[in-house]
Amino acid sequence: MAEPTIPQKAPYAVDVEAGKKYWWCSCGKSANQPFCDGSHKGSEFVPMMWEAEASKPMYFCGCKKTGKAPFCDGTHNRI
Ligand code: FES
Ligand code: FES
Repeated sequence: MAEPTIPQKAPYAVDVEAGKKYWWCSCGKSANQPFCDGSHKGSEFVPMMWEAEASKPMYFCGCKKTGKAPFCDGTHNRI
């Protein structure tokens, strides 16, 4: 299993909009973090879709090591 690239060892705060779908980058190679820009193509990684139920700030994992993808669970503090 390949290891993801680590864009940053901290979450990305995003003001999500209710009803909108988001594609979290799991590979770490996207230039549009924390979201997928297609850079995973040719790798074993695929983006993770998440749909917002409410409009509010959410903290997407930037280290790509979270156990609660696509969101930060504090794992970045241990890498
Ligand atoms: Fe990383 Fe698509 S660019 S999952
Ligand atoms: Fe990945 Fe916090 S940024 S767990």
